[in-house]
Amino acid sequence: HSVGLVGAPFSKGQPRDGVEKGPDLIRGAGLVEKLRGQGCAVKDYGNVDFDDVSDDSPVGKVRRPRTVGLANQRLADAVKAIKEDGYVSVMLGGDHSLAIGSILGHAASQKGLSVVWVDAHADINTPLTTPTGNIHGQPLSYLIKELHCKIPAVPGLSWIKPCVSADDIVYIGLRDLDPGEHYILKSLGIKAYSMTEVDRLGIAKVMEETCEHMFSRGKKPIHLSYDIDAIDPTVTPATGTPVVGGLTYREGIYITEVIHQTGLLSALDMVEVNPKRGKTDDEIKSTVDTAVDVVLGCFGRTREGSHPPNYSVP
Ligand code: ARG
Ligand code: MN
Ligand code: MN
Ligand code: MN
Repeated sequence: HSVGLVGAPFSKGQPRDGVEKGPDLIRGAGLVEKLRGQGCAVKDYGNVDFDDVSDDSPVGKVRRPRTVGLANQRLADAVKAIKEDGYVSVMLGGDHSLAIGSILGHAASQKGLSVVWVDAHADINTPLTTPTGNIHGQPLSYLIKELHCKIPAVPGLSWIKPCVSADDIVYIGLRDLDPGEHYILKSLGIKAYSMTEVDRLGIAKVMEETCEHMFSRGKKPIHLSYDIDAIDPTVTPATGTPVVGGLTYREGIYITEVIHQTGLLSALDMVEVNPKRGKTDDEIKSTVDTAVDVVLGCFGRTREGSHPPNYSVP
């Protein structure tokens, strides 16, 4: 595997400080060394430079649309370049509004994508349904072709061209949706495995069905957008919008093992790690270490262990 890593130290898609520290913390926990240790070639493209936009007053309910829009233009360019260099893109956030740029950049280099969205939240509010105005709760609404007619022109965001179809999306881990989001999921018939389905089916069946659904219309490159708050806050508490009743560590890792086995992973987002939301160093460490393990699982780390191909017992 060759991994092209990019950091996106950005927090303006939501109101809480600290999530911009995600990329350097995850690197600091040894991500690059560990990926290399499991046989990946890694190029670290560094962190994207984000400019502040001076006058960015809310537009309707939407907060900081120009700042978030510009950041995502920068990120889209970075991810597109990584894909054109032939790497699997790994974007370390930052908040989940960054999925806009990551998915657009990815889509610019591949003709069709499947998106697997692992999250407690659906992040599909439109500028008109959002209860908070925070764009990290909205990214998918701008990206889905079938929703385009419901998206008003918002300064800073109107350049976004939707690039994914509703039936190329699978959600896993949902447990906190706003009414507008639930309506959109049902009316577009988006495949969604909430925690109820994880409980009913078990994670193995959920992943089997996820793959079946994705492959039923041909094998497309996979964009895995992984919000750390999908996992239960007892394991990953250092995040901005924790929700009780989440994926276990094992379920969270199992998802990555199956995605790796498809051989189709083409881009990964690891977002919403916020050290300032951890109450103790242990809470921060558990969150960051789990984020690292999610990435490692995506690139072939197996819990059964492994050995080099030419290995023999001395
Ligand atoms: N649904 C809420 C909102 O739209 C929460 C979104 C949380 N999103 C996230 N990426 N953590 O504001
Ligand atoms: Mn979330
Ligand atoms: Mn999210
Ligand atoms: Mn492999």
